[in-house]
Amino acid sequence: EIKNLEEIFEARIARDEKIEPKDWMPEKYRKTHIRQMSQHAHSEIVGMLPEGNWITRAPSLRRKAALLAKVQDEAGHGLYLYSACETLGITRDELYEQLHTGKAKYSSIFNYPTVTWADMGAIGWLVDGAAIINQVPLCNTSFGPYARAMVRVCKEESFHQRQGFEIMLTLSKGSEEQIAMAQDALNRWWWPSLMMLGPTDAESVHTEQSMKWKLKRKSNDELRQQFIDQTVPQADLLGLTVPDPDLKFNEATGHYDFGEIDWDEFWQVVKGHGPCNKERMNARVNAWDNGEWVRDAAMAHAEKKEKKKLK
Ligand code: ACO
Repeated sequence: EIKNLEEIFEARIARDEKIEPKDWMPEKYRKTHIRQMSQHAHSEIVGMLPEGNWITRAPSLRRKAALLAKVQDEAGHGLYLYSACETLGITRDELYEQLHTGKAKYSSIFNYPTVTWADMGAIGWLVDGAAIINQVPLCNTSFGPYARAMVRVCKEESFHQRQGFEIMLTLSKGSEEQIAMAQDALNRWWWPSLMMLGPTDAESVHTEQSMKWKLKRKSNDELRQQFIDQTVPQADLLGLTVPDPDLKFNEATGHYDFGEIDWDEFWQVVKGHGPCNKERMNARVNAWDNGEWVRDAAMAHAEKKEKKKLK
């Protein structure tokens, strides 16, 4: 009977129908979605930290308002994605537990420090730029709640990318110090942004199955090339230099050739040994522990209200 259900499921995927939470799905499909969506949710939540670091030091009220709004959007994306995960039969508590005990992965990119204001520009421009390239195809992913969440998330990411690029544009037209600051941020964020799109296709263990299920619509290497092709002309426009001596437009392929990515660094960061992994994890665990009284109070309040209704 399962075989029959599986055939029906595969046929639905082939017809580009959305799979909804209560539909029959193979166990592996369910687990893979919990894995990817929860990693994505954790990335949004941990991703608030590097930029949160600069909210109190934004150079103007306008910059502060935009940065605050962006970080709040990330909280929203995280909560939205946790909810989408919950439709697959895992609880929010289990997901938090996985993050706080270090069992869950989140994006490598958020384990790098934000040392100057220009990093707010570089993150918006590069990190959110890469996120959009990765997430636009996910608007067509086969699992309904994930696909629908991505539509809204991508719209907001696009604002994030623009606010970052505008910071870079302002700095790159500024004083010598400001230009140097923008260049330094590009130097530090360029390679980690390329790594963020995941290991090469040859090393990517999940791509083949995820493509079959139309969870992934483009491979890691395809997305990385698209990101590079889109971003290099933007760096030129800023008058900044991409820190890759091998970067060169290839007339024959119509794409940029680029240098070797340091995959050792990537795996070190993924395994917990990046510059800020411990700091990020401590911040999340402390926020959870220090927020316990708020959760308890909210529960007590809800119970009291419920009791009143019953009377
Ligand atoms: N950081 C940390 N871990 C990563 C990263 C990364 N940048 N890229 C890949 N990995 C992990 C994978 O999670 C997987 O580990 P697992 O088996 O323990 O889950 C392993 O490396 C092998 O990678 P792949 O086989 O290529 O994994 P996958 O097919 O899931 O592709 C990708 C990785 C592209 C990140 C995919 O999961 C995806 O598109 N996720 C949704 C988008 C997302 O999470 N973005 C987060 C940052 S964007 C933002 O928050 C602003």
